[in-house]
Amino acid sequence: MRVLVTGHQGYLGTVMVPMLIAEGHDVVGLDNGYFADCILGPAPVDPPKVETDLRDVTAAQLAGFDAVIHLAALSNDPLGSLAPEITYDINHFASVRLARAAKDAGVSRFLYASTCSVYGSAGEDLVTEDAPLRPLTPYAESKVRVEDDAAAIADSGFAPVFLRNATAFGFSPRLRADIVLNNLVGHAVLTGDVRVLSDGTPWRPLVHAQDIARAFITCLTAPTEAIYCTAYNVGTETNNLTVADIAQSVVEAVPDSTLLITGESGPDPRSYRVDFSRARAGLGYEATWSIPDGARELYAAYTSYGLTSDAFFQRFTRLPQLEKLQAAGEIDQSMRRVSARA
Ligand SMILES: NC(=O)c1ccc[n+]([C@@H]2O[C@H](COP(=O)([O-])OP(=O)(O)OC[C@H]3O[C@@H](n4cnc5c(N)ncnc54)[C@H](O)[C@@H]3O)[C@@H](O)[C@H]2O)c1
Repeated sequence: MRVLVTGHQGYLGTVMVPMLIAEGHDVVGLDNGYFADCILGPAPVDPPKVETDLRDVTAAQLAGFDAVIHLAALSNDPLGSLAPEITYDINHFASVRLARAAKDAGVSRFLYASTCSVYGSAGEDLVTEDAPLRPLTPYAESKVRVEDDAAAIADSGFAPVFLRNATAFGFSPRLRADIVLNNLVGHAVLTGDVRVLSDGTPWRPLVHAQDIARAFITCLTAPTEAIYCTAYNVGTETNNLTVADIAQSVVEAVPDSTLLITGESGPDPRSYRVDFSRARAGLGYEATWSIPDGARELYAAYTSYGLTSDAFFQRFTRLPQLEKLQAAGEIDQSMRRVSARA
């Protein structure tokens, strides 16, 4: 299939693109390149790209694609809360605009990267896709709105599917340090401390970046009736863990590290345990990576590629990297590129 991947130069996109190509798909990217140079280890080989900000994409640019995989977003809660209007502009309005342009161009599938954080605070019970959505942040709210608005334009020629990914972990050449397992392992490697800022009790479902990529690849070729306007939680019940449990796996993976649960950030209302049975039944899909394996993978990558504190806390953390691009005049206050870049 000919597939457009938005956000292909981000953390997940950089893992997904080579897996799509290995499956025989013809891939084109679309990305502002905010993190294009934030690389750990050998540089990835990027596919050709459509040169546009997501907010300006036209139907003509989408002609000839069979599917759009939509990953591009301001991708976390702190970012969304600092600049909520830009988060809604990119994550909601531009995403719906993209979906409409795709439909107008005759693209038949729209695979959307949603998130389990749409469930917000859900207590101890496992939440299915039919659970009430209680987004707690502009980031999560924007994901709910796109699901609703893309479903509203679905028809026999345009099938959207909503992949509600658990929090990702695992190595990507374009690393993210601001997601929980990647962060804890990095801290432990750089300082010797596995430092948990909450009280460790919130539940977090986790899923490896490669497992997320496999879920999208599965949805590309699944029968239309299996995906049409359907939300799928992406992950596995085995990886529904408390932050304290996740931290314990890190202590076991990083030699001579020590667990510190400081509680300094106060209570974290985002807590949910997720049911993944719909994807098993509907797609035959199951995530396979465990947290201990992910912690060991990250430890090996960080130590063999020489992770530094500067890279970890700046380049691989979304907010300071965007602030750096703004300070350097490479992007403006609305996060638009000021000048064309390769
Ligand atoms: N990583 C996770 O834990 C996780 C979990 C659930 C859902 N998701 C979703 O998956 C998607 C990808 O996540 P990620 O971790 O790879 O994020 P990321 O921040 O690494 O990548 C996002 C990419 O989108 C691009 N982008 C942002 N705004 C753009 C614009 N206006 N025009 C063009 N490109 C733009 C950025 O340059 C970046 O490369 C996001 O939609 C995110 O919300 C991620």
